[in-house]
Amino acid sequence: MIDKIWPREAYDWYRSACDVYNYPGGSFGNSIRELISTNDTVLDLGCGIGAAALTIAPWCKSVIALDNDKDALGYLENRAKELGISNITTKHSNWPDDAPLEVDVVIALHVYQVMHSPHNLKPVLESAKRCGLIACHAPVFRRDESFVELKEELGITPYYELCDNGCYTKGALDALGARTSCKKAVYNFSQPLDSLDEVARFIAWQINARDSMAEIITKRAHRYVIKENDKYLVPVTRHSCLITFKK
Ligand SMILES: C[S@@+](CC[C@H](N)C(=O)[O-])C[C@H]1O[C@@H](n2cnc3c(N)ncnc32)[C@H](O)[C@@H]1O
Repeated sequence: MIDKIWPREAYDWYRSACDVYNYPGGSFGNSIRELISTNDTVLDLGCGIGAAALTIAPWCKSVIALDNDKDALGYLENRAKELGISNITTKHSNWPDDAPLEVDVVIALHVYQVMHSPHNLKPVLESAKRCGLIACHAPVFRRDESFVELKEELGITPYYELCDNGCYTKGALDALGARTSCKKAVYNFSQPLDSLDEVARFIAWQINARDSMAEIITKRAHRYVIKENDKYLVPVTRHSCLITFKK
């Protein structure tokens, strides 16, 4: 699964979906929370704009939020300041360049590709004194994939033909000596937006469309949206594999 390039407005879209649907606190907050104690230092690996870091911060002593996207880290720093959260330290780094880091728990949510090689996974295990949780996209049936007809019309490979290979990640952690378990989480991650133009841009980002596809996406955008008063909601259901490891 290829990571999407984030246009500037995507940070705000993502944050509004996180706020409305309480991600990751609602979707897998319990799974994260049962790993963390108040004295822990937690690494949010591939933190993006810090949805997990901001959720976890009140539950632990400190959070290291690591990402190779400097703009996302700046966004997180501003948000933490707004919320008066002072126990998050951001780290601009490309995993595993600065690993291992000494932490109690590692949380890595949807950091595609990084969890697909022992070269990247071994330092995850070395960094965590105790345990961690890795989330990746679960395989879906065609009927469960968002925007699937549009992807097919545009010749974009749908996800249901792919798999983010959480089973590989779990197996590799087992082979490295961790005790692992996994479960599936299915949750609402619909996107609130302000206009049909914005809906089209959001869908284009979601499906990794090329600029030349914009006209068709704009024509089809109304099919993927629910209008509520003067607001637009693009329904999205996410399917994730949650892999927990303990040492
Ligand atoms: C799909 S986003 C998920 C963000 C966040 N974990 C969440 O669930 O909201 C994946 C993030 O991983 C980061 N990332 C991908 N590969 C990375 C690497 N090798 N080192 C650090 N960050 C990485 C990307 O920059 C991006 O912010």
